[in-house]
Amino acid sequence: MNIAPKDDPEPPAVKQFLETGVNPYNEKAECLPLGNFLYLSSCSGCHGHVAEGKVGPGLNDAYWTYPKNRTDKGLFETIYGGAQGMMGPHSDKSINEILNIMAWIRHLYAEDPKKARWLTPEQREVFKPYVEDKSVEHGTAELAQAVPADQCGTMRH
Ligand code: HEC
Repeated sequence: MNIAPKDDPEPPAVKQFLETGVNPYNEKAECLPLGNFLYLSSCSGCHGHVAEGKVGPGLNDAYWTYPKNRTDKGLFETIYGGAQGMMGPHSDKSINEILNIMAWIRHLYAEDPKKARWLTPEQREVFKPYVEDKSVEHGTAELAQAVPADQCGTMRH
């Protein structure tokens, strides 16, 4: 896939992902607020605020229309290049932004961790299916901007 890097400066995680196809932000707690905010502003309108599904399919279970989305590389390609119908390409987003959104989607996974093939065996051991806690504030721009930029990169917009 031909990707023009748009991140400036490119965070190390982007380089690592392009080399390995594995998203370094998966379950990296300090970065999740960035993906949470970006997901709520760009994806939740169609996929539901905890990815439970709306006009677009749920992204929080073990079923994928496109089985390649079980891998981070496949999920990236789907989001960057788009799928069918209303699911247009998101190539306006930086690679770093998409990786952060992907980590948030993976974090919203609500089923058996054993089926979460995108996690490393160590991550699978400790992963807890997502349960929404409405008493905790999350998904705000302030929280997104407060993530450590040297570890999570920044937003383009
Ligand atoms: C305008 C509505 C809309 C928006 C906004 C949208 N999607 Fe979608 N998305 C869809 C629809 C409809 C499908 C089903 C398309 C298909 O099956 O080809 C879909 C499919 C997908 C799939 C494939 C799911 C599977 O089961 O394989 C992924 C992953 C996905 N979207 C992620 C995202 C992300 C991440 C964002 C935000 C950056 C986003 N979408 C924004 C409507 C939307």
